[in-house]
Amino acid sequence: MSIIIKKGDEIAAMRVAGRLASEVLDYIAPLVVPGVTTGELDQLCHLYMTEVQGTIPAPLHYAPPGYPPYPKSICTSVNQQICHGIPGERALKDGDIVNIDITVIKDGFHGDTSRTFLVGNPSIAARRLTEVTYECMWLGIEQVRPGATVGDIGAVIQRHALANGYSVVREYCGHGIGRSFHEDPQILHYGTPGTGVRLLPGMIFTIEPMINAGRRHVRQLGDGWTIVTRDRSLSAQWEHTVLVTETGHDVLTVSANSPPCPDLAAASA
Ligand code: MF3
Ligand code: CO
Ligand code: CO
Repeated sequence: MSIIIKKGDEIAAMRVAGRLASEVLDYIAPLVVPGVTTGELDQLCHLYMTEVQGTIPAPLHYAPPGYPPYPKSICTSVNQQICHGIPGERALKDGDIVNIDITVIKDGFHGDTSRTFLVGNPSIAARRLTEVTYECMWLGIEQVRPGATVGDIGAVIQRHALANGYSVVREYCGHGIGRSFHEDPQILHYGTPGTGVRLLPGMIFTIEPMINAGRRHVRQLGDGWTIVTRDRSLSAQWEHTVLVTETGHDVLTVSANSPPCPDLAAASA
């Protein structure tokens, strides 16, 4: 296990990559409406990344050990899909929730961020899951400072999810990120305060909790990528890429239309 500490120029490049990833979400947000297909959203994001930004969509042809090459440029995970949903013919319907996960490469560095979008007017239950998951991510972010541990991040996320009657997915986690898409350390979204890797300035990793309305267990679809809840309950996810600074943290995946830190998490800082 080796964690790559980033220095001046690398951090500057990661800020650019992070902002660009978030700007793809700003671009696509108004287009996430009933009737659009996930494949259309993929094509639009692909063109925006490659033609407007001059970024490389990191998911396209990504093939970690044990996985077939990922065939698209973004992930679109709808309703009971937890993560890694492959865009295709599916048209979004009024009341769906959809996570769009964007990872760009700019000048060799990765920026990774996702948001869960409400399509039309979802149920109160779906909106509450989406909102609590957003709070979970931000409560985790607010733990990030030198000397804190990875367990501190997981513990606050787990506590808030469970307090709301939800469960935390365990098979997928946040990750170090830089010149590689997925680096050490792993950032579990559950855990015990004071345990695990201790954070140091210059570490950069994602926090990307996947929270299920029902039980935590997962199932992989036959496409080799899409992960769904085993009990078919709804699942939501949000993701930011975060830098550990000398005094706390900086969120790198921010842009003009990033939703703000929620009050509950700001109060925990
Ligand atoms: N962006 C995802 C993450 O947050 C990884 C997607 S891998 C892909 O780590 F191949 F499905 F795109
Ligand atoms: Co990630
Ligand atoms: Co991601």
